[in-house]
Amino acid sequence: MEMRMCGIVGVTGTNQSVSILIEGLERLEYRGYDSAGIYVNDQSGNDYLVKRVGRIVNLKNAITPEISGSTGIGHTRWATHGVPSETNAHPHFSNDERFYLVHNGVIENFKQLKEEYLSGVEFKSDTDTEVIVQLIDRFVVEYNMDTQAAFLKVLRLVSDDSSYAFVLMDRETPDTLFVAKNKSPLLVGVGDGFNLVASDAVAMLKQTHTFMEIQDQEIVVVKPAEILITDFDGNEMKRDTFQVEMDASAADKGTYPFYMLKEVDEQPAVMRKIVQNYLNEDGDPVVDSQLLESIKEADRIYIIGAGTSYHAGLVGAKMFEQLTNIPTEVHISSEFAYEQPIMSKKPFFIFLTQSGETADSREVLVNVKKQGWPSLTITNVPKSTLSREADYTMLLHAGPEIAVASTKAYTAQVAVEAVLAKAIGEYLKHPRAAEFDLKHQLGLVAVGMQALVDSKEKLESVASRYLSKPRNAFYIGRGTDWSVALESALKLKEISYVQAEGFASGELKHGTIALIESQTPVIGIITQDRTAGLTRSNLQEVISRGASVITIVTKHLAQTDDTIVLPDVDPLLTPLLSVVPAQLLAYYTSLGKGLDVDKPRNLAKSVTVQ
Ligand code: AGP
Repeated sequence: MEMRMCGIVGVTGTNQSVSILIEGLERLEYRGYDSAGIYVNDQSGNDYLVKRVGRIVNLKNAITPEISGSTGIGHTRWATHGVPSETNAHPHFSNDERFYLVHNGVIENFKQLKEEYLSGVEFKSDTDTEVIVQLIDRFVVEYNMDTQAAFLKVLRLVSDDSSYAFVLMDRETPDTLFVAKNKSPLLVGVGDGFNLVASDAVAMLKQTHTFMEIQDQEIVVVKPAEILITDFDGNEMKRDTFQVEMDASAADKGTYPFYMLKEVDEQPAVMRKIVQNYLNEDGDPVVDSQLLESIKEADRIYIIGAGTSYHAGLVGAKMFEQLTNIPTEVHISSEFAYEQPIMSKKPFFIFLTQSGETADSREVLVNVKKQGWPSLTITNVPKSTLSREADYTMLLHAGPEIAVASTKAYTAQVAVEAVLAKAIGEYLKHPRAAEFDLKHQLGLVAVGMQALVDSKEKLESVASRYLSKPRNAFYIGRGTDWSVALESALKLKEISYVQAEGFASGELKHGTIALIESQTPVIGIITQDRTAGLTRSNLQEVISRGASVITIVTKHLAQTDDTIVLPDVDPLLTPLLSVVPAQLLAYYTSLGKGLDVDKPRNLAKSVTVQ
């Protein structure tokens, strides 16, 4: 079985289809992939299929001048099981070469379908996708069904626990894309005389700013001048379009060597954007009053997230408790989905997800909805699955985040949590919330972040001196600094492959200190008055055992030999600053090792399988 976070692009109605598909796939590179392919048809009986293992440039190089067409589909495949190969790459096709299919997701019951309906059929690949395209062909050819009916019949046979985004082409109706999705993201881009479909709006922004959602359990027939949506019972569905006013260049690297560096640098601007969007002239939060009313009723807040988003939740929980007095728990989505704790009577759920598509988090949201509990999704992607399915959405306004390592989405999540915590606190008339001058503080944060991103040379030399050789490293801190230590360690490990751990500094001596040896890097984060002295003592303990210590310390707690000094801000917001040097240390460690910073091995940006 394959696991995919693949990228899909489809287009019909333009003779530029090859370049649109290739450029679209390049924009989806962030999703991770190990092979890529396109299929185009020129409506005059010629069609072309090209697939290549490795980077999109290999596919590009294989495209000869005669390869052109007005309708086509493209795909980047990311496999964790099975070797990436041209035969396993998409598009897949039926043995009679009539149907071509791209797929993102996992068909859980593909083996049963193969055994039940396709015995005797010869398969070229090991994929579940090929089973689907062969099955569609069988229903059309042997049962004389039309393509749409056969597609629908197959979709009905696919088990409910499967996930898919499909785009199908039929040589007999070469201007038509047959489209369906379940759990995996896919949306239609509306053009003038042409139409598109893709996993993410960024793949279509050069052609259009007008989009149309596709919902689960629908079939969409996309032609150059027509988009017809029907549900599985054949009812025609009306759908409004929506605009995404994002500049296509927002997803470009510009002169940066890697997206990650660009995204780290954008953080001061993101803070200002959040101020503009969520705080009025007087600094009062502008947040949906129904959302506030709904949280007001809650006796406990549950924050759900994965990876970096989970870490942002840990920071946010402290804000909610201090500014609103509502007890707040934070959970890893993949854990909560299958080990739900005993719940309070009136829970309110906050989903943190940059992409809005993370399958683990969605699994929790589906259960939360079944129980009738209210929910909010805080996400960077408007109309993403978790945004659509939660009762409320707050957007991060961070602009597209392309690098696999999340940076500006983390700081945007923390800042939006601060806005929400202040808004609820004021709504509940909690005194600390009223005193908390968030607008002023976020202004200080933006200036502080700028100073930190401007000190790249220093961070580059710290990374090369302390982190380039060792195989292990530790980030330590207490309280909110520990939460940042977790995120900092994740950054370092995911892009530089240094085995890094984030530890509660007081916990080291209970076992882990045994790992400290000569020159083991230990990075201490110190931003909180109450725990600064204690973390410093813990650093002394590791220094005595030979560790190389680096410190990231807030100004009023700094001592002369501290490595990186952060400007002072409200203690609730220090994570917005302390994480920035950690992001850059990870970046320069990865860069120094000559690794692909934006696309670390084994990882994909958007994890749409559980
Ligand atoms: C970290 O840098 C990652 N990109 C990863 O941990 C990410 O935060 C996680 O997969 C959750 O993604 P989401 O925010 O899109 O839900």
